[in-house]
Amino acid sequence: MPKIALITGVTGQDGSYLSELLLSKNYEVHGLIRRHSTICTERISDILDDKNFFLHYGDISDSSNLSNLIREIQPDEIYNLAAQSNVGTSFEVPEYTAEVTGVGTLKLLEAVRQVNPKIKFYQASTSELFGGIPETAPQSEKTPFYPKSPYGAAKLYAYWITVNYRESYNIFACNGILFNHESPRRGEDFVTRKITVGIAKIMAGKQEKISLGNLNAKRDWGFAGDYVEGMWKILQHDNPEDFVLATGETHTVREFVETAFEEVGIKIEWHGEGVDEKGLCSKTGKVLVDVNPQFFRPAEVDLLLGDPSKAEKILNWKRKISFKNLVKMMIESDLKKF
Ligand code: NAP
Ligand code: GDD
Repeated sequence: MPKIALITGVTGQDGSYLSELLLSKNYEVHGLIRRHSTICTERISDILDDKNFFLHYGDISDSSNLSNLIREIQPDEIYNLAAQSNVGTSFEVPEYTAEVTGVGTLKLLEAVRQVNPKIKFYQASTSELFGGIPETAPQSEKTPFYPKSPYGAAKLYAYWITVNYRESYNIFACNGILFNHESPRRGEDFVTRKITVGIAKIMAGKQEKISLGNLNAKRDWGFAGDYVEGMWKILQHDNPEDFVLATGETHTVREFVETAFEEVGIKIEWHGEGVDEKGLCSKTGKVLVDVNPQFFRPAEVDLLLGDPSKAEKILNWKRKISFKNLVKMMIESDLKKF
C-alpha cells in the first residue's frame, strides 16, 4: 500500500518541493489549500494533474475542518508547513500570526490525538527560535531559544506543544528546526528573492534599484529542495526526535547582494554608512542598491549559523547545493522570468 501524506502549506515554497518529493516516492499526497480570490497554485502547477495528488479546502485555524480531513484521508504522515511565515510582517499582524503559526499547530495536533494518534507529525520549526543570542553560534538542538519577533514567539509555542504532545500522548511528533532555505520558488517578500527579482528587473530595464533594510544581518542560507528531503528523513527515523537542518555557513545580506550581482557581471562598490549606504555599479557609478528604513524591523536577529551535525550523523542528511550555486540558480530563473 502506498503511504498517505497530508501537507498543510502545500501551496508554499516548501509544500511544493515536498509534494514533488513524496510523489516521486510513490506517496499519495493530500494538500490543504485556502480559498483565494486569485489563483495560488503556481508552485504546484506541474503536479496538479498527478493522479496521486489531491487538494482539499481548509484552514489551519479551522479545527473541525482539520479533524474531518484527517478522518477522511487517514494519513500516515502529516507535515505541518502552514504559517504566516514572514518575520517582518509578523510585527504588523502579531495576533493573526499567533493564531495561525502558533495555535494552528495545536489544532492540528489535537485533531491527530483525537482521530488517530498513530499518525506521524512533522512541525516546521525554525532557526528564528534562537533569535537573540548570537554569542551561542553555531546553534544546535541544545542551544537555548530567545525569539525576537511575534513570528518567533508563535513558533516557540508550536515547538513546545509538539514536544508536549510527543511526551504526553506518545505521538510520533517531531520538530525540524530549519535554517533559512531559498529557491526560485521563494516568496518575493523574502530578502533573497527580492534581490534576485530586483536584479532581473534591473537587467530588463524595468526597475532602477533595489531598496533594502539591514544589510549586515547574517543568515545560514540553503536550498529548499535539500531541506524537504530532511523533513521526510526526520519522519522515517526510528524515534521521534527534533533535528536542526542547516548548511553550517553564514553570509550577510550584503554578501548575497554582491554574489547575485556578480552572476550578471556587475561588481558592487559600497559607499556611505547606515541609512546613507549605497551599492554602486563599479563601472558606471549608478546606484543599484540603497537602504530604506521602512525595511528595518523593530527587533532584529543579527546572526544565524546552524550546526547540522546531529542530522548529518543520525539521518545521513547533508545539504547538496552550495551558497554560490543557490544564488546562481535563483538569478538564472528570475532572468528567464523577467
Ligand atoms: P511560505 O512559502 O510562506 O508558505 C506558507 C504556506 O502556508 C502557504 O501555502 C500558505 O498558503 C499557507 N498558509 C498560511 N496561512 C494559512 C492558514 N491560515 N491556513 C492554511 N494554510 C496557510 O513558507 P515556506 O518558506 O514554504 O515555509 C514553510 C514552513 O516552514 C512555514 O511554517 C515556515 O514558517 C517554516 N520555515 C521556513 C523556513 C524557510 O527558510 N523557508 C525556515 C524555517 C521554517 P497560501 O498560499 O494560501 O498563502
Ligand atoms: N524580507 C526582507 N526584505 N528582509 C530584509 C530586507 C528586505 O528588504 N532587507 C534586509 N533584510 C534582512 C532582514 O532584516 C533579515 O535580517 C534578513 O534580511 C532575512 O530576512 P528574510 O528573508 O525576510 O528572512 P528571515 O530570516 O527573517 O525569515 C525566514 O527564515 C526563517 C528561518 O530563519 C523566513 O523564511 C521564516 O519563515 C523562517 O522561519
